Amino acid sequence: MPRLGEGAPAGAGEDSDVRAAYRACKRIVREAHSAEYALLHLMPPPIQPACWALYAAFHTADGLIDTTEGTPAQRSEHLAAWTAALRTEADHGHSGDPVRRALVDTVRRWGIDLDDLDESLSSIAADADGTAPATWQDWRARVKSQNTGWVGQFLRLLERCGVRFPVDLGQLAAVSGFLDGLYLTDTLADLADDVNRGTLTLPTEVLDRFPGAGSDLSARHFSPNVQALVAHLLQRARQSLTDGHDELRHHLHPGADILLQALVAYFRARLDVAEESGPAILQRPCEPDRLTRWRIMAPARSKAFLLWRLVPLRTPPAAGPRAGVPPQRNPGPQQPSATVTVPAVPVPAHPSGARPPAIDHDRLPHHVAIIMDGNGRWATSRGLPRTAGHTLGARAVRDMAMGALEIGLPHLSLYTFSTENWHRSTDEVFHIFRVLGDELEDGWILRHDIRLRWIGDAQRVPCDLAAKLRDQEAATRHRTGLTLNLCLDYGGRTELARAGSAIARAARAGDLTHGDMSERDFARYLPYPDMPDVDLLWRTGGEQRLSNLLPWHVSYAELHFTTGLWPQMDRRDLWQVISDHTHRHRRYGSAPSPDAPPAASTKTAITQRVT
Ligand code: IPE
Ligand code: IPE
Ligand code: MG
Repeated sequence: MPRLGEGAPAGAGEDSDVRAAYRACKRIVREAHSAEYALLHLMPPPIQPACWALYAAFHTADGLIDTTEGTPAQRSEHLAAWTAALRTEADHGHSGDPVRRALVDTVRRWGIDLDDLDESLSSIAADADGTAPATWQDWRARVKSQNTGWVGQFLRLLERCGVRFPVDLGQLAAVSGFLDGLYLTDTLADLADDVNRGTLTLPTEVLDRFPGAGSDLSARHFSPNVQALVAHLLQRARQSLTDGHDELRHHLHPGADILLQALVAYFRARLDVAEESGPAILQRPCEPDRLTRWRIMAPARSKAFLLWRLVPLRTPPAAGPRAGVPPQRNPGPQQPSATVTVPAVPVPAHPSGARPPAIDHDRLPHHVAIIMDGNGRWATSRGLPRTAGHTLGARAVRDMAMGALEIGLPHLSLYTFSTENWHRSTDEVFHIFRVLGDELEDGWILRHDIRLRWIGDAQRVPCDLAAKLRDQEAATRHRTGLTLNLCLDYGGRTELARAGSAIARAARAGDLTHGDMSERDFARYLPYPDMPDVDLLWRTGGEQRLSNLLPWHVSYAELHFTTGLWPQMDRRDLWQVISDHTHRHRRYGSAPSPDAPPAASTKTAITQRVT
């Protein structure tokens, strides 16, 4: 794969000074931070040059402050000038400084937002006077503000090239605990340098706990109190690394996990050296020897090499027009696939030979939504992994679509993956996506008279799955049979919030001529304004809740809750639920007429499968 900074073509409109700039960043990282350089080699190849640019920028910004040259105020000024130059250059797209030149390119190419680095840069500048934080809480706040901006950019780069994270890592307490562990390890490993330069910034709270340790440290005297302090810090650093690592692991893509394992192993090795150093901890930095580093990095590097060849990755996009461009979304229907022109094949009958019940057209619900619940329980009750439930659940989806076609249902919405489902293990989440991808690959939707629509967030779903969904949406958009809405990475409240934002934008742009908004006006800001209200909402698996599905559309739906688990369901269950529904009396607020069915029929009911 061609790479920036390695003499390969850099992309549209790219020139040799950009390649030279990336090479300069690579050199800086390799020479000043050889371990980090090795760790960055575990990143997906398309983003490695961007990683060098970010790391070299961090190194440069930190270096302007972490020096004994000039007064603190001058150091701060230097960094402020460097940051201001970066901002201006990002707007113009050029810089004479190699580190900023590469960073400007990274910002424009990968959609990095410089605002996200602002807090970190100003916090690094504020550190110029070297004042120690008073408490661990202050220390943690400082670590967080100086580092999370950069960590966030590395995560963003991973996402931009197609490595998804099932949760917002920025929101996880484990991430901030883990950063504490990394930073404290750094402090211990570099104790000698920091003491020499007088830039040690341990919280006074911990120095007070070991009286005299602060002055002994400055005098580079490895006194019993310094020993006790170091032992305490080592233990604290190990604990933070372990806790953070254990929780983070559950949320990572296998490629990111390789990086995490190597990072943790390397930082633990640094702590081991610090522990074994004794008084030498005050004389020289604590770095593992070459053999130890090789033992950690070599296997990680071969694993990463193989893995990144197996995972579909996005190559560097062409540099964008401006800094802070909005995040790149998954491929939309830029090049709609050809619409399917072959006639739809006949719907295969259910293997039992069952036929749909005859239901008057005007009694048939127009829109049925299903919360397909119980895959996990179905599998675990049989001693199988939860993933097996999702595999079988996909078969039920296909049969249900066939049943909807047979009975002549116009709209069927299937809750396939909720925004809350990202809380599940990475294995389970990726398995669900894989199963969905396989179903689309099979092409059954294309073969039948189905118009596919995807409702949900297009940003976090793996690119290849998003592309398949968009392709099949485009290919089936002319179909008139069943509209099949797949709610995938869908969250009802997010949908409403987005509609609210769109309305606010329209108002700001002067597109809303009057202040009052009718329900119909509001619906125009939903993803599919023509989507009809849900008449019947069916949830399998025995739970009686809506789990954030289509709040706008289900507001007057009849609710049907059944106890059977989704993988056990087939089209006969759908027909049964629809038949039951035809006996419901929908009043929409009116008083019951004397000849209406008994009021009890409108209550929700838990029913067993009747077929
Ligand atoms: C529903 O089944 C499928 C999805 C959420 C993707 P579950 O996986 O929720 O099954 P249970 O509720 O754990 O049994
Ligand atoms: C709802 O099921 C989401 C889907 C069926 C896709 P869940 O099983 O995730 O819902 P909760 O967590 O029980 O509400
Ligand atoms: Mg469930």
